[in-house]
Amino acid sequence: MTKYIVVSGGVVSGIGKGVIASSTGLLLKMTGLKVTAIKIDPYMNVDAGTMRPTEHGEVYVLNDGGEVDLDLGNYERYLNVTLSRDNNITTGKIYQHVIERERRGDYLGRTVQIVPHITTAIQDWIERVSKIPVDETGEEPDVCIVELGGTVGDIESAPFVEAMRQFQFRVGHENFALIHVSLVPDMHGEQKTKPTQTTVHALRGLGLLPDLIACRLIVPQPLEKATKEKISMFCHVAEEQVVGVHDVSSVYHVPLLLQSQGIVNYLHKRLNLASIVFTPEMTQRGLSLEDRWKALTTNQERLYDRVSVVLVGKYTNLKDSYMSVIKALEHSAFRCQRRLILQWVESSDLEPQTQEEDPAKYHDAWRTVVGAGGILVPGGFGARGTEGMMLAIKWAREQKVPFLGVCLGFQLAVTEWARHVLGLSGANSSEFDANAPDPVVIFMPEISRTHMGGTMRLGLRPTIFQAGTERARMRRLYAGAGTVWERHRHRYEVNPAYVERLQKSGMEFIGKDEKGERMQIMELPDHPYFVGLQAHPEFCTRPLNPSPPFLGFVAASCGGGVLEEQIAAQLSSFKPPHPVESMVSERALQEGTKDELLTAGRERVLSFSGEP
Ligand SMILES: *[C@@H]1O[C@H](CO)[C@@H](O)[C@H](O)[C@H]1NC(C)=O
Ligand SMILES: *[C@@H]1O[C@H](CO)[C@@H](O)[C@H](O)[C@H]1NC(C)=O
Ligand SMILES: *[C@@H]1O[C@H](CO)[C@@H](O)[C@H](O)[C@H]1NC(C)=O
Repeated sequence: MTKYIVVSGGVVSGIGKGVIASSTGLLLKMTGLKVTAIKIDPYMNVDAGTMRPTEHGEVYVLNDGGEVDLDLGNYERYLNVTLSRDNNITTGKIYQHVIERERRGDYLGRTVQIVPHITTAIQDWIERVSKIPVDETGEEPDVCIVELGGTVGDIESAPFVEAMRQFQFRVGHENFALIHVSLVPDMHGEQKTKPTQTTVHALRGLGLLPDLIACRLIVPQPLEKATKEKISMFCHVAEEQVVGVHDVSSVYHVPLLLQSQGIVNYLHKRLNLASIVFTPEMTQRGLSLEDRWKALTTNQERLYDRVSVVLVGKYTNLKDSYMSVIKALEHSAFRCQRRLILQWVESSDLEPQTQEEDPAKYHDAWRTVVGAGGILVPGGFGARGTEGMMLAIKWAREQKVPFLGVCLGFQLAVTEWARHVLGLSGANSSEFDANAPDPVVIFMPEISRTHMGGTMRLGLRPTIFQAGTERARMRRLYAGAGTVWERHRHRYEVNPAYVERLQKSGMEFIGKDEKGERMQIMELPDHPYFVGLQAHPEFCTRPLNPSPPFLGFVAASCGGGVLEEQIAAQLSSFKPPHPVESMVSERALQEGTKDELLTAGRERVLSFSGEP
């Protein structure tokens, strides 16, 4: 029987419920359990793909091509799992599902109502998705964390709260626990419990009893003993059921902060985890995860050497739109034992026009670029700021500064090369200039199986390293693999008509798609590190297993021999974060049956999502 841990929120949203939920999952994983996660968003939207990055933060892409928001990324990274689009439930999705069934006549003409039809659909969905294997074991998870977005008491979340009330009886008391995350404001040193009392009352009124109350303090002072006693008394829970989460130096410390307050023991008792048979392998896996996580967090405190990189982007006002990129850089810096100094430059500030309009801004921006150990140009859409990005890329290329281009950054690196090395001064992407004389980047849609008629190439795709690339740094960072799988999200690609000329002039496309038609990884040989990828490798980074292209970039930015050291380490330790790797054997790929196999592989990825 799966154990469910629901994480709800009270008082205000945006106080780190997701981090508390994923940390709890990680702690249980450290005991050897298999953990999955579901995020409930009480909005009407059905698809996150069209959300504007400047408003909503990053659009996170899953293996199955699902475009979701950054919370699911949090779970994938913490729990080292592979989720599907169904791990995200929205009001819109549930209503759509129930209305479709009603149209099909599944309800035999009865009146369809929020209770019981919507609430039952929510419970069925959670039960179904919680059983989907998400990790390398390929087995059903033991524990499912359900994060309920919004706050209890909202009109929006009411059907979900009611569904959870019913769910505790459906699955039974010992398979259902609730963590309620509340805010404890600190007013001039006094910790206030009233908001917590009020939200716990509201929760009880709706028929849910908190098993743990996680008190969030937006200050560096821990929860005081007296506050804890007061909450225990007024909220009718034992003291061990009240835990404090104050601000700590990094989110990677939150799991250990919760552990030190005994929540694992509590959940162990409460959910009767002793009834689960722990095999020696499970225990071993858990212990090794715990050791590595502890080493990561303690080392992090002792990092004095720095590595500075600059991100030249176009949504730099909202840093959340680069969440996964930041995580990939952080994870890589941990591995290199450096403190990451990440600077931001708005790419349009590097353009000559800014020099005229605001010289100070222009000089500041350039000073940052010139002073950085490495230059990163991430993904994005639209023409604004792209000329500035190309100026930064040209600098990195000519001055031999480590460079990583992701998606748009890769396409711009190709365009810059075409203009300045190939001498095609009118080279441009047809995304920005439909009539460019030399369209080196063009629109190349893929008819995707998941999005009928969709124009985006989305989700996990293989990249095949070309013959003779065994020595390429990028390939060795992937431990020498012949095929690597990364997530994609793009509409434009390098124009095949220019590939031969680009290659002759020295730009090497070392990785291509399974048909050899799409250019996916580029590396310049006589440069310390100049790499571009059509994929978004940042979506597959893990704290203990950084994304190889980012690791190479950060290591190169450290200077010295760090890159070679990390390549050597990767050769023995790198493991791809997806079990998918095992689906298509390398030999089969070379024997020409690859199309069939890839389709089979992709279908298996898609069937994870098992559309209802
Ligand atoms: C889930 O999907 C909805 C609609 O597509 C989106 O607004 C929301 O941000 C997504 N949530 C997560 C955690 O991905
Ligand atoms: C993460 O998952 C992958 C594949 O599922 C596995 O090979 C790897 O060992 C896992 N890493 C950790 C640190 O558990
Ligand atoms: C490329 O297109 C952009 C957007 O239309 C334009 O601003 C830029 O001048 C073009 N560059 C060249 C070299 O044609």
